[in-house]
Amino acid sequence: AISPAHATNGTLKHVSSSAVASLDDSLVRSERNVQYEHELFDADRKFKERALVSSKDKYIAMYNRSLQDPDAFWSEIASEFYWETRWPEENGKVHFENFDVRKGPVKVEWFKGGKTNICYNALDRHVHAGKGDQIAFYWEGNSPGLDASLTYNQLLQQVCQLANFLKDKGVKKGDAVAIYLPMLMELPIAMLACARIGAVHSVIFAGFSAESLAQRVLDCKPKVIITCNAVCRGPKIINLKDIVDEALSISLAHGVSVDSCLTYANEVAMSREKTAWQDGRDIWYQDVISDYATTCDIEWVDAEDPLFLLYTSGSTGKPKGVLHTTGGYMVYTATTFKYAFDYREGDIYWCTADCGWITGHSYVTYGPLLNCAKVVLFEGVPNYPDAGRCWEIVDKYHVSIFYTAPTAIRSLMRAGLEPVKRHSRKSLRVLGSVGEPINPSAWKWYYEVVGDKRCPISDTWWQTETGGFMITPLPGAWPLKPGSATYPFFGVQPALVDENGKEIEGVCNGYLCIKGSWPSTFRTLYGDHARYETTYFAPFKGYYFSGDGCHRDADGYYWLTGRVDDVINVSGHRIGTAEVESALVSHPQCAEAAVVAVDHEVTGQAIYAFVTLKLGVQYSEELRTGLKNAVRHEIGAFAQPAKIHWAPALPKTRSGKIMRRILRKIASKELENLGDISTLADPHVVQELIDLTDV
Ligand code: WT7
Repeated sequence: AISPAHATNGTLKHVSSSAVASLDDSLVRSERNVQYEHELFDADRKFKERALVSSKDKYIAMYNRSLQDPDAFWSEIASEFYWETRWPEENGKVHFENFDVRKGPVKVEWFKGGKTNICYNALDRHVHAGKGDQIAFYWEGNSPGLDASLTYNQLLQQVCQLANFLKDKGVKKGDAVAIYLPMLMELPIAMLACARIGAVHSVIFAGFSAESLAQRVLDCKPKVIITCNAVCRGPKIINLKDIVDEALSISLAHGVSVDSCLTYANEVAMSREKTAWQDGRDIWYQDVISDYATTCDIEWVDAEDPLFLLYTSGSTGKPKGVLHTTGGYMVYTATTFKYAFDYREGDIYWCTADCGWITGHSYVTYGPLLNCAKVVLFEGVPNYPDAGRCWEIVDKYHVSIFYTAPTAIRSLMRAGLEPVKRHSRKSLRVLGSVGEPINPSAWKWYYEVVGDKRCPISDTWWQTETGGFMITPLPGAWPLKPGSATYPFFGVQPALVDENGKEIEGVCNGYLCIKGSWPSTFRTLYGDHARYETTYFAPFKGYYFSGDGCHRDADGYYWLTGRVDDVINVSGHRIGTAEVESALVSHPQCAEAAVVAVDHEVTGQAIYAFVTLKLGVQYSEELRTGLKNAVRHEIGAFAQPAKIHWAPALPKTRSGKIMRRILRKIASKELENLGDISTLADPHVVQELIDLTDV
């Protein structure tokens, strides 16, 4: 069973801050943004009058209270949910935290001892309040014309049927269930079914390869995996079942067997007859689910019982299993959703993220459903069949809150005005952005063209680890600046810290850290609490370190400037350089590889790989393709390098450390100031690499 086990020895044997690079690279971005610090975009009076938080003064009053008395602040909000047993308030405290590695194991608890269930709060609670006939999901398929919907009543029934199936297969509280599904309604249904019975879901984005899926299965050892046979994405058909079969045989070879593979027959993409099948293990979803009862008892769980695991990339090593627990996550995702999107009854909300990432957990599934929102789920991609698809969907469902990623905005921007103007978009009220810093020109296009200058943009900064929004505008409460996530959410204390771990005040650039916990703080890295402490709490003692660089301007606005560790952000997907390097090195002809990020017009960053071949191997285009395929095979297509740069050798210091700073400069063709290369073991390498740029 999965539990948020904490290290007990209290002392860290190995503390490294190697994950922290210099701020230089990320600062280049903020320089570019300086001119926008004085450009303010305020909501109109009518918007402000109706807004949940209608002025900066009101925000400040609430924010101050959230810091002065976090217990009172959050327990008041938590009381709006259903608790089977209320959390005990010992001396008025609802949370416990130790964020300082010097004071023993890092440990966070919110509402511990309280018993609740997030599925009950997201579904049953609304049904009991007479809202069962309201739409929960509008599902829009990959091809226009293919759609479906579920009311809260229907959703609850389907969740119960699947929950009963899982119980029948022996899944108990604390057991892991792997979910490898595209954006069908069965994906959030599966998450909620797990939550209902206290099982821990581990959703694996359906773009991951068999190797990656196997790695995650081996780590969390699920009893059941839920998948589908195939899916249409844009013009392509992806055979998911073959990937699952391969992953499960890899897992089996490593001693982990998964008893049941529940497979949804997505016959639009592939017939049952064509699907590879293993009798005894594989079960067609549609063959069994309707036999189960449409009601299912709730498993009341402790606020601190695990809700889910979600793997994410770091700068080193294998993916980390970020573990979130129930109570604090529930309270925080619901509250951030409500305030950051100025949510009110009647809103139709559409977030384009996939449930395979944290955004789809917190702001497709839990946050919106906990607010009884009407949610659009989209199976497809933003530019299929054409660049007008998003706005067609906005008009079709009268979407009022639209939440997407800068990469999507930039790719739609390239298609020009016509695909946008062709659709009315008059239902839109609030826009959102997430996943990477949004460049001011994309921000302005989003604001002026998509939102017709009437919709505030919530640029929400957060992470898989934080569970919910950390720095975000509250629509209407204060003026926006293009490219700034503005101010911290209630209860969040950002701190900008310098190289020496000293907090810096006022206008400055620094490493973005957070002081003190918030309800949806991740509690551990599954199976490796020491890595949790080392990665996030050891670099700056007493703080949570985000891995991002940040600038604070004279008005106190926060401007995220990008990762300062070796994490690359491609289209909002977080990819560790070490993972890509190890995938490249898995190719039999690759001796060594070093991966850096370069800026990219649409995807934000792109992966640029320097590859040293084994002795005697010749450069060839075929080999380039082979290397890219190695990454597709080990991680997934989304992590494929955009460029392979042949490297007779890599620039290393005398102690053998690869100088990525130099590689970054060569990759982005900034050859004027390569900096000091005299510390290299062999400075000639640099010119050799430059000469090979276009080979
Ligand atoms: C990293 C977290 C959080 C959901 C999606 C990604 C970057 C995310 C923003 C933003 C600037 C952002 C950061 C962060 N990031 N949102 N609004 N402005 N940067 O989750 O995969 O955990 O990645 O995404 O670099 O550390 P994730």
